[in-house]
Amino acid sequence: MGGESVEKLFENNRAWAERIKSEDPLFFQKLSEQQAPDYLWIGCSDSRVPANEIVGMLPGDIFVHRNVANLVIHTDLNCLSVIQYAVDVLKVKHIIVCGHYGCGGVVAAVRAENQGLIDNWLRHIKDIYYRYSERFDICKDEEARVDLLCELNVVEQVANVCHTTIVQDAWRRGQFLAVHGWIYSIRDGVLRDLEVSFDATRQVPEVYRHFPIRRRDE
Ligand code: CO
Repeated sequence: MGGESVEKLFENNRAWAERIKSEDPLFFQKLSEQQAPDYLWIGCSDSRVPANEIVGMLPGDIFVHRNVANLVIHTDLNCLSVIQYAVDVLKVKHIIVCGHYGCGGVVAAVRAENQGLIDNWLRHIKDIYYRYSERFDICKDEEARVDLLCELNVVEQVANVCHTTIVQDAWRRGQFLAVHGWIYSIRDGVLRDLEVSFDATRQVPEVYRHFPIRRRDE
């Protein structure tokens, strides 16, 4: 928690490196030679949602991109570069978009608040809120609206991943690649699959396809 000095981080790091080495003396040597992760994780920057820890993975297991509210924006060169490198070079098998309930970015998008520059980033979430506005009639309070919007945001970002030329080109080549949408609960530490997985271009609406479907496996 707060109040710890930065020196503490170096102490922690030395203890962590020693612990890993005591369990597997060659761990860092093997990792330094190559990384071959099967998973790309696109998650929120929130400090309570650390990718590796919540799925019990070690360094080398997951390629990670995090930003505020786990957004995949078509013109975000940073996120697109991560996806391209993960798919084309590392050849990950799974891309996981993981949101979380109570996301601060989603809360800010639901409220009419001014938080500065970030409001422009969060506009993408307001667009989703507006697009699905009738879905929120059943929500009894703000918390319920935020949680539903957290889920819808994941669904939309999974679609955005599938709409990239990067993912569709991989499918066209016949490369196995599945895209998943998950949500994490900060309240109990449990992940839930939103069951919006895609592994072929034919699952993408025609208008978002970058090439006509010819074979069944595309
Ligand atoms: Co968040």
